[in-house]
Amino acid sequence: MCGIIGIISQNDVSERLLDGLKRLEYRGYDSAGIATLAADGEIDRRRAEGKLEKLADVLATRPLAGVIGIGHTRWATHGGITKNNAHPMANDTVAVVHNGIIENFASLKEMLQQRGAVFTSDTDTEVVMHLVSMHMQEGLTPLEAVQKTLSQVRGAFALAFLFKAQPHMLIAARRGSPLVLGITESELFIGSDAIALAPWVRTLCYLEEGDVATLTLHGDNAEVSILNEDGIAVERPLRQTNITADAISKGAFTHYMLKEIFEQPLTVSDTLQSLISVEDESFHAPLLALNKPFSKIRIIACGTSYYAGLVAKYWFEKLARVHVDVEIASEFRYRSPVFDGDTLNFFITQSGETIDTLAALTLVKQQGETCVAIVNVAESSIARASDHVIQTMAGPEIGVASTKAFTAQLVVLAALCLKFAKERNAISPHEWTNFFQSIAQIPGHISELLRNDGVYHQLAAHLCQVHHTLYLGRGANFPIALEGALKLKEISYIHAEGYPAGELKHGPIALIDSKMPVIVIAPHDEWFEKTLSNVQEVLARCAQVIVFTDAKGAAAIEAQTKTMPCYRIVILPESNMLTAPLLYTISIQLLAYYTAHMKGTDVDQPRNLAKSVTVE
Ligand code: AGP
Repeated sequence: MCGIIGIISQNDVSERLLDGLKRLEYRGYDSAGIATLAADGEIDRRRAEGKLEKLADVLATRPLAGVIGIGHTRWATHGGITKNNAHPMANDTVAVVHNGIIENFASLKEMLQQRGAVFTSDTDTEVVMHLVSMHMQEGLTPLEAVQKTLSQVRGAFALAFLFKAQPHMLIAARRGSPLVLGITESELFIGSDAIALAPWVRTLCYLEEGDVATLTLHGDNAEVSILNEDGIAVERPLRQTNITADAISKGAFTHYMLKEIFEQPLTVSDTLQSLISVEDESFHAPLLALNKPFSKIRIIACGTSYYAGLVAKYWFEKLARVHVDVEIASEFRYRSPVFDGDTLNFFITQSGETIDTLAALTLVKQQGETCVAIVNVAESSIARASDHVIQTMAGPEIGVASTKAFTAQLVVLAALCLKFAKERNAISPHEWTNFFQSIAQIPGHISELLRNDGVYHQLAAHLCQVHHTLYLGRGANFPIALEGALKLKEISYIHAEGYPAGELKHGPIALIDSKMPVIVIAPHDEWFEKTLSNVQEVLARCAQVIVFTDAKGAAAIEAQTKTMPCYRIVILPESNMLTAPLLYTISIQLLAYYTAHMKGTDVDQPRNLAKSVTVE
């Protein structure tokens, strides 16, 4: 997912363009660049392959002056990772930065080349640059040229333009990829998200689909005018950002991911408090004021968010007695699913921009079924397209590996489960009180776990030497085994698989030998005895078994494995079906983090990954 930044000021902007790109690094990228209108009025660029340090080095040796500019972090889609393919794309008329894909770029490129355009990159973005400058040569104004170009290109994109002949103006366009404007009296900003602009502005304006915004600054007079996709002037609401500079700094932590793991007592508590009042065991505002009955639930998501949906299936079916289907968005959208009109659909997403989840939402909406977004970014595309929004209060999640957003998603789903269970008289008042009180204790239990994170350092010292691991769990903790495997593989690059413990005999047990660590999620619950048998099966084959359990579980395991003990038994606080997935997630997050840190991988921006997958 690329990152876009733009600034018009009365002071030089290149340092802040770079600073803004640094706050967009979490989106994933492999090259970067900025362009300004230099003092001589020419468009001037600095670009570099690789991390922003490379671009900073270029700027240190060849500084870039100018009070107006655009910047970009590129995650390569069309064209290899080279300086030449780094944005901004520029000629002597216009510079452009682009997030997304121009689907018909090949035919446009051919047409442009036939008209004499000379291409210097392999990117799809370059066709936008040539089209805009061609239309300007035909006599159109910059805005008209941009609008004409947008009528010719197909695909999903966010664009920002800088014009040689317009030293006080930037143009921004949104179709399928978010763009937000930052407005102060004397400066104007464009950003792919509010995080990029956080230290400079409090007032934001989110562009809508199809909007084209013109930002002009004459002296102290900052102006924004927006045309919608029909070319009609519109006003978009101004919002005050709640993102503070602290929220997007690592503080004393080595990585954003570690900071975000340690923020979870607070973010779980904030999300809980936004939904329920523990004192009177009630939901604040109507957690979900539905105006349409439903007979079953469908949950659609990707990656870690999909695993939250899998946990919810166990909860909703066991406690609320409602049928739940959980779908991987990229499969669901192409499967020609059957709709019966009375399914309640939840779309779980941290970023709110995951292209497959958004496409699945569009498909379901076309069928007239109710769509609810469980989302961490309030102004995101999926939030705006849904009938209802339940926001996770995790705050900005910068680390590519999702941690605090996942536990916040589980909190929302646990609250929904209790709501549905009560509405369906599926649990007794006693059970209701027990569950309510137990989830209220989660923040304290997470704090306790985080205070005793030394064991994860020790386990990581071992795990960072292996090449393969297996995670096992049962019931609502099977998805936590999947999440543990994903966390480990995506940040440490160690191959890891998550499996239902009961599936061992159906194949995976063939993997087991003395070199295979097996990580088992096993609270002393209704599935414990069966999982203990699985522990014994893999111990009998010399596996290095690490079990996460509680005091009762540890006693039972030690009693049953005296002759072939586990590599390590880690004791967590007691839990129940609702609280165990939240608690045991902290363990697998810490294990993955410390393992990756010991391996020296780029924990916050793992190779090949982006924070949000906004292109297919
Ligand atoms: C999680 O650690 C991964 N970064 C990834 O699986 C992520 O959960 C997935 O891409 C979905 O993202 P979303 O929640 O923003 O939709």
